[in-house]
Amino acid sequence: MAKLAPFPFPAFPTAFFAFLLCSCASSSSSCSAAEASEATTIHDLLRNHGLPGGLIPKDVESFSHDATSGLLEVRLYRPCYAHYYDGLAYFDSEVRGNLSYGALRGVVGWSQEELFLWLPVKGIVINDPSSGVILFDIGVARKRLAASAFEVPPDCRPVAEQAADGIESLGRSGGIFHQR
Ligand SMILES: *[C@@H]1O[C@H](CO)[C@@H](O)[C@H](O)[C@H]1NC(C)=O
Repeated sequence: MAKLAPFPFPAFPTAFFAFLLCSCASSSSSCSAAEASEATTIHDLLRNHGLPGGLIPKDVESFSHDATSGLLEVRLYRPCYAHYYDGLAYFDSEVRGNLSYGALRGVVGWSQEELFLWLPVKGIVINDPSSGVILFDIGVARKRLAASAFEVPPDCRPVAEQAADGIESLGRSGGIFHQR
């Protein structure tokens, strides 16, 4: 090991700590499992599993995650609609799925509006984090979206119209691709 030289940067401790966190997050899976068990919000739990924290809206009453089976159960205060920049989602008061690193599969209690139809979201996967693409399995198609659109947990409102207004004011932009 080389002898450590004096550090010229006052910001060194912070930078070094950040470096430790990064190398921890990117290397061993036992390390990320330990982090995941310490998550105090559903949004941090998702982030610790390599998924955007804003997939699940604000207003979460409680959640539980069994790290062994992967079973994730999220309880919202009420069924509600959330809008993301490109679309509208409906959440039951209980959303369940199997959470693993980079994926939430076997999803129950979550629907997505597609061309005026409500389709159940079955799974959400990030296959390649460097692509910035998140895949939504909505049964008839797999929808490729920008993962960055789901970083911030949206509000979740009990009335669809309010959420739909929000979408119109934001505009239905963003690339949506369907693949069989
Ligand atoms: C989650 O998926 C893993 C791997 O496919 C499987 O072993 C486990 O039984 C699943 N858990 C639940 C709760 O379905």
